[in-house]
Amino acid sequence: MNNAEYIKRTDESLLHVYNRFSVIFDHGEGVYLYDTDEKKYLDFASGIGVMALGYHDKEYTDALKDQVDLLLHTSNLYYHKPLHDAGAAVAAASGMDKVFFTNSGAEAIEGALKTAKKYAYLKHGRKNYEIIAMNHSFHGRTVGSLSVTGNEHYREAFYPLMDGARFADFNDYESVECQVNENTCAILMETIQGEGGIYPADETFLKKIRKLCDDRGILLILDEIQCGVGRSGSMFAFQKYGIRPDILTMAKALGGGVPVGAFAVTEEVADHSLVPGDHGTTYGGNPLVTRAVKTSLDLIAKRKLTDHVTELTPYFERILEDLTQRYDFITGHRGMGFMQGLILTIPVGDVVKKGLEEGIILLSAGNDVLRMLPPLVMEKDGFDEMHEKLIRIFDTFA
Ligand SMILES: Cc1ncc(COP(=O)(O)O)c(C=O)c1O
Repeated sequence: MNNAEYIKRTDESLLHVYNRFSVIFDHGEGVYLYDTDEKKYLDFASGIGVMALGYHDKEYTDALKDQVDLLLHTSNLYYHKPLHDAGAAVAAASGMDKVFFTNSGAEAIEGALKTAKKYAYLKHGRKNYEIIAMNHSFHGRTVGSLSVTGNEHYREAFYPLMDGARFADFNDYESVECQVNENTCAILMETIQGEGGIYPADETFLKKIRKLCDDRGILLILDEIQCGVGRSGSMFAFQKYGIRPDILTMAKALGGGVPVGAFAVTEEVADHSLVPGDHGTTYGGNPLVTRAVKTSLDLIAKRKLTDHVTELTPYFERILEDLTQRYDFITGHRGMGFMQGLILTIPVGDVVKKGLEEGIILLSAGNDVLRMLPPLVMEKDGFDEMHEKLIRIFDTFA
C-alpha cells in the first residue's frame, strides 16, 4: 500500500474527529521523528507535551521492555512494585501527599472534581457545590472536564453539561473573587494556560487566589497536565510561585509516552474525601504505565533536565525575540521554560503546515499563537535549527 492508500483506508475506518496532516510517522530518534519516506522532522511539539525524553531513549525503552516481560496488568485489587515506586516518585517530585493514577489528563480532572466535591460534602455537609474555572482554559473532553473548560467552541453541542461550573477571567483576581459564594468548593486553573494561548499565571494573582482559598475554606486545584513534569524549568510550575495546591493534576510528560495521568492531593484532602468505593479505574496505575512513570521521573532527575530547561530558556527566548523583531506579523512571544508561544497575525494553521514541509513539527494554541513544546532534552543546536527553519517559513509570508 502506498501512503495515500494508507491515509484513505485509515480515514475509512476511523471516526472523523481529527483533521490529521497527511504525514505517516514511522519512528523517532532523539528530538527527531521520521516518516515512512525517511524524511526527518525536528520535533517542537513532543506529541503535545508528552515526549519529554525525546524518542527511543535507551534507558526508558529498556525499562519498558523489561516490564512487558515481567507483568503488564493485575487490576487495582492487588499491589505491585512499580505502583509503589511511581506513587513515591510522584509524591516526592510534586510535594503532594497522596496520588491516584488515571489513564489520561481528562480523567485526572474528573478525579480532582469528585475529590473536591466529596471534601466539601464531608466538611460542610451540603450538596450542589460549585467550581470556579477560568475563561479560555482547557481541561479535557469528557463531560465533567468539558464542563469546566472555558471555551464555548468545545462545549456548545453538548449541553446540558455538569451543573455548578462558573467562569472567571484568568489573571484577574476580582473576577474570581466576585464569583465566590457559600457553595464554592474549588477554584480550578492551569498554572500556565496551554490551549488558551500560553498564558502563565501572574505571581500576585496565584498567591492571592491561594489566600482566598485558605480564607474561605475553598480547595485550589491546579491543572499541570500540560505545563507539569519539568516543562516550566521546575518539576511543577506551581513550585516557582512558592505556593502549593490542594489538588494537582498531571498527565502527558508524566509517563514519557504511555497513556497515564494522575491527581495528587494533600494529606488534609486525602483524610476528608474519597474512600474505598468512591472512585476507581480498571487500568489506572497498571505495572506498565507506573514503571514508565518511575523511569521518566528518575531520568528527568538523573539528567538534571529541569536545570537544563532553565539554562536554555533564555536562549530559546532570544530566538523568539529575534523572530519578533524580524517580522511585522509577529507581535510578541510569551511562556515559561520549554512552553512558549509566538503571537502571530497570519494564520497559525498555515505556519504549522509549512513547518511540516520544512521538516519541523509545530503546534497552534488558540487562534493566533504558534505553540512550541520541545522535548526537555532539546539542545542548543536544535534551537538553532528551529530558528533557521522558522526564518525560511516566515520569509514565505513576508
Ligand atoms: C491543561 C490540560 N488539561 C487537561 C487536558 C486533557 O488531557 P487528555 O487529553 O490527556 O485527556 C489537556 C490536554 O491537552 C491539557 O492541556
